[in-house]
Amino acid sequence: MNELGRLEDLPQDYRDALKAQNLVPLWPSLRAVLPPGKPRPNTRATAWSYQALRPLLMQAGQLTPIEKAERRVLVLANPGHGLDKMQASAAIYLGMQLLLPGEWAPSHRHTPNAVRMIVEGEGAYTTVDGEKCPMSRGDLILTPTGLWHEHGHDGSEPVVWLDVLDLPLVHYMEASYHVDGPRQTVHPGSGHRSHAHGGLLPTPVFERSRKAYPMLRYPWVEARAALQALAADQPTLDAVQLTYSNPATGGDAENILGFYALMLRPGQTLNLPARSPASVFHVIEGGAQVRIEEQVFDLAEADTCCAPGYTPITLVNASASAPAFVFIADESPLHRKLGVYETR
Ligand SMILES: [Fe+2]
Repeated sequence: MNELGRLEDLPQDYRDALKAQNLVPLWPSLRAVLPPGKPRPNTRATAWSYQALRPLLMQAGQLTPIEKAERRVLVLANPGHGLDKMQASAAIYLGMQLLLPGEWAPSHRHTPNAVRMIVEGEGAYTTVDGEKCPMSRGDLILTPTGLWHEHGHDGSEPVVWLDVLDLPLVHYMEASYHVDGPRQTVHPGSGHRSHAHGGLLPTPVFERSRKAYPMLRYPWVEARAALQALAADQPTLDAVQLTYSNPATGGDAENILGFYALMLRPGQTLNLPARSPASVFHVIEGGAQVRIEEQVFDLAEADTCCAPGYTPITLVNASASAPAFVFIADESPLHRKLGVYETR
């Protein structure tokens, strides 16, 4: 490969003349934007211990009332991007959010898509587009782009959830904004109940308005049972994994990020190929060792890590007796839609 000319090789008066016209020579920066063979991601393999962050999150509850925070969140920031960028990967934002008993996080909507993975506590709920969604450990709740959402808490213990958003991408696109709104009127019914049976799709005869997101809550108790049924039904299946999907389209639950539930059988080692999207792993139950190149993270329950794209990943369940359950978020839908998805 040829050595390309450097900026310093150019006479200063020529560089000044270019700058005065808002012009930049490409060749000194060409390799930085088009590196050979493989991207050079800023995203670093990084893990966040729940045991380490929980006291700091609870402290935030004492230091900052909800009225002063609107959303009381500690962002899981990737040092490879710089902590102030508040991103886990190029497209993924992660935050641990605390809601205390009796608190209220007011209604708003925004262009970035979000999901909540409930980490601990009972009694909280999110109202999304008028549907009241109870929050229990392991439940996944969607708040897709443009839908009103607010959080309340009728329980007696703190509730914590993991927020996963495509905020870095939408912000990069200069398309990120929010709108505040009044408290929502809750309507009866739940998309989860009407879509509770796989393969049986509600089919109204007089369809007045089709909802883009007919299912907003995916209870963990059902995802867990589906994983165990799949594992029992297909004992030789290598990856016992389910995709959180939109039941009306069969496609991904949201447009930009993908969400999955994975069960590692007792003692299982699962080698994932190098794929272009970055990914996030969060342990719902059990423990999992995650190997990302030379990094090895031993994740306990409620721990989270992220991995850059184009990197093989190995997941190990060291327990000989208990399965491990892992929530995964990745950038696959985005990569596939843009035509840059690849497996190596
Ligand atoms: Fe929000």
